[in-house]
Amino acid sequence: MKRILLVIVAIICTTAVYAVDYTNVIVPRPVSCEAGEGDFVISSKTVVRAEVLSLVRAGEIFAEDLERVLGRELTVKKSSPRAGAINLSVDSTLESEQYMLKVTKAGIWIVGGSERGVFFGLQSLLQIAAASPVEKSSLALSAVTIADKPHFEYRGAMFDVCRHIFTVDEVKRYIDILALHKINKFHWHLTEDQGWRIEIKRYPELSQVGAYRNETIIGRNRKSKVYDDTRYGGVFTQDEVREVVAYAAERYIDVIPEIEMPGHAVAALTTYPELGCTGGPYEVWTRWGISKNIFCAGKESTFEFIENVLTEVLELFPYKYIHIGGDEAPRDMWKRCPHCQKRIKDEGLKDENELQSYFMERVEKWLNERGRSIIGWDEILKGGISKSATVMSWRGSKGGIAAAKLGNYAIMTPNTHCYIDYYQTSNPAENGEPLGNGRFPVTLRKTYSLDPYAGLNEQQQQYIKGVQVNLWTEYIATFDHVQHMLLPRVAALAETGWSYGNKDYDDFARRMHILRKLYDKKGFVYAPYFFNGIE
Ligand code: ACM
Ligand code: ZN
Repeated sequence: MKRILLVIVAIICTTAVYAVDYTNVIVPRPVSCEAGEGDFVISSKTVVRAEVLSLVRAGEIFAEDLERVLGRELTVKKSSPRAGAINLSVDSTLESEQYMLKVTKAGIWIVGGSERGVFFGLQSLLQIAAASPVEKSSLALSAVTIADKPHFEYRGAMFDVCRHIFTVDEVKRYIDILALHKINKFHWHLTEDQGWRIEIKRYPELSQVGAYRNETIIGRNRKSKVYDDTRYGGVFTQDEVREVVAYAAERYIDVIPEIEMPGHAVAALTTYPELGCTGGPYEVWTRWGISKNIFCAGKESTFEFIENVLTEVLELFPYKYIHIGGDEAPRDMWKRCPHCQKRIKDEGLKDENELQSYFMERVEKWLNERGRSIIGWDEILKGGISKSATVMSWRGSKGGIAAAKLGNYAIMTPNTHCYIDYYQTSNPAENGEPLGNGRFPVTLRKTYSLDPYAGLNEQQQQYIKGVQVNLWTEYIATFDHVQHMLLPRVAALAETGWSYGNKDYDDFARRMHILRKLYDKKGFVYAPYFFNGIE
């Protein structure tokens, strides 16, 4: 009797455990996911076969990631598809980011519209592998057919490495997190009041002066008068920048550098005080907030400096878009500056708002002549913008709505949903959240609830390129803390970007509990609140 029972239990276990329903697994949610018959077992002998050489690296990255799940690293070969293998190929009749993933008894096939599409298919395969049973270094995948493509072309995450700096390895790890969630844009915030973080060969003093602050405020900015008495800073060398851009490219992530102007420029002004309206002296900022000291818009030397900086930036960053800031530029200095006032008069401008437009449009034109396009924060709308500028809406969604109504492209990053430096529970003190931006909480549910099209008719919606989360680091000094703010909220953003029109929070929440196991396997740090039922 005992033996019969054991046999019955064994039969139930094999069928029940192996038949994983992958519709409840992948984040962001795929367009369609249909279970098939039987399963395919990945063992240490299974080979990843890349049909073209350009897919081998994607296969290798997958093999490295899968090692965390399987305990073994698979071999990757350039080879035509075969039964018994994980086969990667491109079919250019599909859309570029589209992919099909098929697991059958005979093998696994991923076909993408481009290499990038195949890479996304591999992320889905990794997620279903992590949700499947592993036994003696073999992984049983249930048969499934997944057809998938993103809704929005732009799915981004911003990382501020100015308020606090992070190592190249940490920046790469940030990119790893984005890759897992099919995020395809990395917005790298590189210049600020509190530190200049990119080596510019023509201006070596930026790396010596602008990259360092004398001390840093401790605690809440408005309340604290305590400083740490410790010099702080650093810069990414051009070789390091190239390394990061190449690392992102292997993961099919475009890097958008942000060089801030005309505001958030105190580190540059400290290095070259003649670029400010008063001529300084200035000091790289040691606290947070908005400085009144911004680039002088009247002096030609300001534009020479910016063009020289951008010349080197363009050599480092191949992607079409360059972010030129434009936010939080108080007009106080411009109002009192004879150079700026002369510029207003000479150019027939109405006021300082139009002077900012002159500034941004002049730099934009210079970039356009070199084949690039600009992104600016929503303040660039004030005083008028050119038709070709893309607006990043951060003070809520109204900037993006206004841009789309004008026929300008917009990226939705409203602070109400997408500022992941804000607390993530409604009671941060009670829940033990580390000190953060206390403006208002942005819970996982809140991030998930973003509707980038709200307030726009169908014709206007076509100007919404996509969505992004922003991670400012005034209160975030360690990479563990970075991950704690990024995860799991970036997953919610990813689902809006990829699966818009196919979202369901409760369903997402269930899948997050499964994805969490992969976070653990990959050693990602994540905030515990949502997983513990706290909002
Ligand atoms: C911003 O948060 N100042 C764009
Ligand atoms: Zn001036």
